[in-house]
Amino acid sequence: MAFPTETVYGLGADAENESAVRRIFRVKGRPSTHPLIVHVQDPWPWAQDPPPWARRLAERFWPGPMTLVVRRNRRASDAVTGGQETVGLRVPSHPLALSLLRAFGGGIAAPSANRFGKVSPTTAAHVRSDLGSEVDFILDGGPSTVGVESTIIDCSGPEPSILRPGGVTREAIQEALGRPVEVIGTGEIRVPGQLESHYAPRAEVVPVSPGELEGRAAELRTRGLNVEVLREPEARTLYASLREADARGADAVVVVLPALEGLGLAVADRLRKAAAPRG
Ligand code: TXA
Ligand code: MG
Repeated sequence: MAFPTETVYGLGADAENESAVRRIFRVKGRPSTHPLIVHVQDPWPWAQDPPPWARRLAERFWPGPMTLVVRRNRRASDAVTGGQETVGLRVPSHPLALSLLRAFGGGIAAPSANRFGKVSPTTAAHVRSDLGSEVDFILDGGPSTVGVESTIIDCSGPEPSILRPGGVTREAIQEALGRPVEVIGTGEIRVPGQLESHYAPRAEVVPVSPGELEGRAAELRTRGLNVEVLREPEARTLYASLREADARGADAVVVVLPALEGLGLAVADRLRKAAAPRG
């Protein structure tokens, strides 16, 4: 079933039921080597020897928009981890997600509830329009309040690093740990050096600096394109804005990249991936 989280809506299945997990990959059209995040109430039975600083992050930011990648134990199957020896764990803070986890009792494997490579859903209506009758149930918890996915932190090596910027800011993580934490790119890019389009609407996404906005938009319009502009993209409304541009038939969305701080880091990351060459 699809369910709301504070970041985006997830498409969930019993993480310990391999055929249910395989159905998630089928419905999303996602390669089976891309691991899923396991949503839990109680994370540590899924991990093996997490470092003390991972526990510190957990205490500080869970429940919330953070995923920790830790060494897995046997509960996390190959179907969920894509055969890797690590598992991504998250305790979401949305009250409906927490009730669902409490009622179910186990771990819920869930990617964002959209087709692979497309814009993530932040409302129940987005899920219905993307996945239609292929999803059995959708729990409607209203619009997601964070609006971009969780921050993924690799806790499987000697040092923490950020694999995907998201709802918990790099600044907050550094403050909790009392040291600098590197952003080493992303879980989405499987082939080194090859930036594949992801989080992408149908319209072309054209990231610009504030000074380039008017010129670039005018240039695209002279080519006869239906152009929309997004001056101050914000995490909470980013995906809904891109979907609305598609619904209005936009050919291109010219969007100002925010400063790389706070939630701006995650917004800029998603816009760059949306602008990457289409596969
Ligand atoms: O906010 C979120 O994280 C949302 C909500 C539903 O929780 N979920 C989400 O899932 O964004 P998904 O599947 O769309 O993105 C999960 C990312 C993928 O890029 C995947 O490669 C990475 O997490 N990931 C999961 N497990 C991993 C692991 N063991 N090692 C490295 N990356 C991992
Ligand atoms: Mg996703």
